[in-house]
Amino acid sequence: MNQDILNLSSLAENARQRQIHALFTDPDRVGQFSLSAAGLFLDYSKQNITRGELSSLLSWAEKLSLKAKVTEMFAGEQINVTEKRAVLHTVLRAPAKVQQAVLGEGAGELAAAERQMADIVNKLCSGEISADDGETISHVLAIGIGGSYYGIKTALTALKPFHSTGLQLEVLANIDGGALMEKLAKLPAKTTAVVVISKTFTTQETMLNAAAVKTWMLEQSGDKDIIARQWFAVSTNLDKVSAFGISREHTLPMWDWVGGRFSLWSAVGLPLALAIGMENFSRLKAGAFAMDEHFQQAALSENMPVLLAMLGIWNRNFLEHGCQAILPYDHALRALPGYLQQTDMESNGKSVSIEGEALAWQTAPVVFGQEGTNSQHAFMQLMHQSQDIIPCDFIVALQGASDYHHHHQVLVANCFAQSEALMLGKTLAQARAELKAAGAGDEEIGRFAVHKTMKGNTPSNTLLLDALTPESLGALLALYEHKIFVQGVMWQINSFDQWGVELGKVLGNDVLSAMAGGESEQLSSSTTMLIERFIKQARSG
Ligand code: F6P
Repeated sequence: MNQDILNLSSLAENARQRQIHALFTDPDRVGQFSLSAAGLFLDYSKQNITRGELSSLLSWAEKLSLKAKVTEMFAGEQINVTEKRAVLHTVLRAPAKVQQAVLGEGAGELAAAERQMADIVNKLCSGEISADDGETISHVLAIGIGGSYYGIKTALTALKPFHSTGLQLEVLANIDGGALMEKLAKLPAKTTAVVVISKTFTTQETMLNAAAVKTWMLEQSGDKDIIARQWFAVSTNLDKVSAFGISREHTLPMWDWVGGRFSLWSAVGLPLALAIGMENFSRLKAGAFAMDEHFQQAALSENMPVLLAMLGIWNRNFLEHGCQAILPYDHALRALPGYLQQTDMESNGKSVSIEGEALAWQTAPVVFGQEGTNSQHAFMQLMHQSQDIIPCDFIVALQGASDYHHHHQVLVANCFAQSEALMLGKTLAQARAELKAAGAGDEEIGRFAVHKTMKGNTPSNTLLLDALTPESLGALLALYEHKIFVQGVMWQINSFDQWGVELGKVLGNDVLSAMAGGESEQLSSSTTMLIERFIKQARSG
């Protein structure tokens, strides 16, 4: 094990013994452990870390040539080595001159795709594309899953106040017929446009849903031309799109150098642009680009994605906390934890190095979360009184989006209070004193005080947005993309493939075949028994 890791492990032994709140005896701590970048403000002073420990982490990152690795990614090197691909979601949101510098002639394809997106938005909003009787399109259904869903869902939800085109957007991901029925119940077949998003155009859920919606729409509208007129696709697989019945003119490109979970900035963002318009879509990309510039230019010690990443590694690998909570104190950001589950855990949930060696260290934490203040009535009890220390990222906008200003003040107060309570906790002496002050007798105090203690010492970041806008959302999503990239570099893994999802897909087809009476010898007796119960229920249902 190298000297940096040994040194950091030794430093962590000290960190484990101390109270975070004791670090605040340093009057400069708040100023030293906070920074602004791309319109966001990060307070990381409630992390269990000293300036010296952080410096050791950053010097380790320097020795792993982090800055050079960043340059390689932005320059289009094939860093996704198992798929022999570049990783260039960043170029999608860069100015034309940067796109030209990175892609050369390929930059023209990006400009063409952007024009095609704008053209579709204009035609659906202006009525140039309308129902066969001229009625304007009222709804859009986006069908996709994983990276062809989460980014769209998160941005549509976050930017509701910016929905300006009048089109009603719905998204469908799960293969569960309940999800399909729920959406179809809301959609007027005749005036609905559909966007099928699938990089491969082979994903089981997406293709089954698309086929079902196609059948439904043809039957409901009675219009045999509706698919050709009102359906669109975003994919790399032009042959399969064409075979499905969607024209080339209605097909937008995806490139293999854009990973699904990093694809919102591409034509995958079409459903979002159909809701918020191209100008707001450009604002989203501008926010992300501002974070890209910061990430490439700032020194490691003043680099927000790098600091988030290294603090995450300090907590995960040295303080050995296995989870990471994402707590957006914003109803509009309620889809963010789910988005980050894919972006983080599908990128870094690995145990083999980029060189093919078994790793001697842990990688991605279990990422979970929920909007605050709901989270306070769900899992915060465990955060306060279990033995597990679970680092938290609190995210809140200083300016609320509603007319209920006092509600927003209470929301923000709860956000700040939770990070304070998780850090301070409550000692037995404090619990005893509280009970005594409330008039409890010694016997009662002796029995109950211990139940009111809280471990505290839980590290957290607080990310402040001035307000939730296309720009701040773009910067926020790019911040986490780059955090995840940096952690992948430090863990020496490939953050951009996802071979781990393949086995489930293959076995899913084996189980499906067994349900249809096919052979199931390769399946366990447990699964075989479960299949038999399903078949029995299906027969009796
Ligand atoms: O979750 C596995 C995955 O391959 C993701 O990486 C991807 O975003 C999703 O499935 C959907 O894939 P596609 O866009 O090809 O339908």
